[in-house]
Amino acid sequence: MTAPPATAPPAQDLLAIKAAALDLLFRTARTANTFTDEPVTDEQVRAIVDLIRNGPTAFNSQPLRIVLIRSPEARQRLLPHLIKDNQAKTDAAPLVAILAADTEFHEHLPRVFPHKPQAKDWFSGADAANHRETQARFNAALQIGYLIIGIRAAGLAAGPMAGFDPDGVDAEFFPDGRLRSLLVLNIGRPGPDAWRDRLPRLSHDDIIHTL
Ligand SMILES: Cc1cc2nc3c(=O)[nH]c(=O)nc-3n(C[C@H](O)[C@H](O)[C@H](O)COP(=O)(O)O)c2cc1C
Repeated sequence: MTAPPATAPPAQDLLAIKAAALDLLFRTARTANTFTDEPVTDEQVRAIVDLIRNGPTAFNSQPLRIVLIRSPEARQRLLPHLIKDNQAKTDAAPLVAILAADTEFHEHLPRVFPHKPQAKDWFSGADAANHRETQARFNAALQIGYLIIGIRAAGLAAGPMAGFDPDGVDAEFFPDGRLRSLLVLNIGRPGPDAWRDRLPRLSHDDIIHTL
């Protein structure tokens, strides 16, 4: 496996963690398309989730749910819902997860947002269903970002995929309608030819606008 190219290092003296950690999390970290056979254990997943569940969400709502696809049967139920290009690598990955948003996250608000006991009511009832789903998807997507960085912090690589049929996955895995799938994620140690060519990133001028 050849080392992926690093992007230009930002001014190290402005950053609060060491260069090796920045490389692992951001600069040389890549999206993996192949993996070794080394298993990803439940202990590793718990260590990653212990880190990333500290990431901020609105109302501390934490709507991300992670469904680990461990059994061959579960994987065979998932594969037909992926676009063709994503099927082989997902079949071969040591661990696959469906990342979903809990549209009933407000049930947990009395526990996770206890200083505002009325918060659950703001999201309750049929009238609030659209608002609830928007909040669930937005905050779960934030948490997916934290999760990808957490996977890298554990020395592993992630292969996120939006190329799948979410309605098909939801009907197959979440028939009661509470969870909505957002992403399928392959996890493992990168294998041979794991990376595609590094794609260009937008410039600071594209990204930053100061008013
Ligand atoms: C939300 C999301 C959806 C993606 N969907 C797919 C996908 O369906 N198939 C795929 O091969 N790569 C997919 N990717 C991978 C991206 O193309 C890749 O992360 C991006 O080009 C950056 O690659 P790099 O991390 O190697 O620089 C997805 C990435 C993200 C974050």
